[in-house]
Amino acid sequence: MHLIVKPPPFLAGSLRPPGDKSISHRAAIIGALAEGTTVIEGFLEGADCLSTLRCLKELGVDIEGPHEGRVVVRGKGMGSLQEPEAILDAGNSGTTMRLLLGVLAGQPFYSVITGDASLRRRPMGRVTRPLAAMGARIWGRQGGELAPLSIRGGNLQPLTYTMPVASAQVKSALLLAGLYAPGETVIIEPCRSRDHSERLLKAAGAAIKVEGLAVRIAGQTPLRPLNVSIPGDISAAAFFLVAGCIHPRATITLKNVNLNPTRTGILDILAAMGGQITVTPRGESGGEPAGDIQVTSSSLRGVEMGGELIPRLIDEIPVLAVAAALAAGETVIRDAAELRVKESDRITMVARELERMGASIQARPDGFLIRGVKGGRLQGTVVDSHGDHRLGMALAVAALVAEGPTVIKGAECMAISYPRFADDLARLGVEVRVEE
Ligand code: S3P
Repeated sequence: MHLIVKPPPFLAGSLRPPGDKSISHRAAIIGALAEGTTVIEGFLEGADCLSTLRCLKELGVDIEGPHEGRVVVRGKGMGSLQEPEAILDAGNSGTTMRLLLGVLAGQPFYSVITGDASLRRRPMGRVTRPLAAMGARIWGRQGGELAPLSIRGGNLQPLTYTMPVASAQVKSALLLAGLYAPGETVIIEPCRSRDHSERLLKAAGAAIKVEGLAVRIAGQTPLRPLNVSIPGDISAAAFFLVAGCIHPRATITLKNVNLNPTRTGILDILAAMGGQITVTPRGESGGEPAGDIQVTSSSLRGVEMGGELIPRLIDEIPVLAVAAALAAGETVIRDAAELRVKESDRITMVARELERMGASIQARPDGFLIRGVKGGRLQGTVVDSHGDHRLGMALAVAALVAEGPTVIKGAECMAISYPRFADDLARLGVEVRVEE
């Protein structure tokens, strides 16, 4: 499927971005392990979160929905999962595979999990190694590094583990496995990654404590069901935040967006670039801070970013590269080598596709060097998402300020995290067309 985007004369309106992807996965998984009925509102109906629901159903969990963002999970407790009859399919979703590996490590049965071609290339040793240290037996290609992975869990021992990379997926997998181990499991991060698992596990009554960069969880405590209303995904809002900044006639309001500080790096960096952004906090939603964000046309300037900020905006880097390509001066992004093992090699692919549109962008081993385009215009052309949802949507944002229309090939992948992305662009006044 191709998406054809024409640069609009203005961008105006108000949107509610879809429910947060990370929280949707976690609410469903924790609900499945709890004793009682969990009700989730605002669940993201993107393909990734549907993969999590499908796998949980294969494990015998009774799930209703999603219907208009509502999911009902009838959990029967941590020990209630059943051996799946078929191979679990995580599709394109790294979160599904890694978090479920943590759960499967605690199960006294055999299961096999795989995913699409992109997921089968992504590193899993970072999860399988510490899970094996807890006592799970895991087999996979390249010594357990690559899916398909088969796992025989049960009889886990607690673990104290210092993670070599900041990864919320690894941390969450080990916390979920820690639920099954007698005694205390301690996970130490090199720097803070998103903490949605910690918040939801706490809400479900788990014995969990955060002390600086260490998270402690005492296992074998039953979980209570959750009642969660999931706020909008700031990683989805990010496309419109950048669109509003780079377009010369834009006023966009994004409603009910998650403002968890482990996720708001995009707001900090756009502010540092000169972005005209106003945040109005509106209390809590689902144990997470949420609020409205307004963005208007801005004159951006280049910045340097790296270090502890990177995990707080890792998924927004493709669209931040678009912002940088249209900012005055140079932008340097470093310490972001993790981008090479996302849904695509995002360093290579973002540089390749934005270069096609006339951006001056150089791929580096751990990031980019980007020189803002003089005169602030890119060139509309034919580009490719390479099956990576965030790259596809970042290219659509670039298309909003390009000369002439842009054709984005492989646009169907946008449904992985944002099924209504093209509709939301149209709501702001953009002429978008889908071609099969
Ligand atoms: C996610 C964590 C991040 C992020 C991914 C979602 C999560 O990955 O890039 O899109 O839900 O935990 P890592 O944990 O591998 O850094």
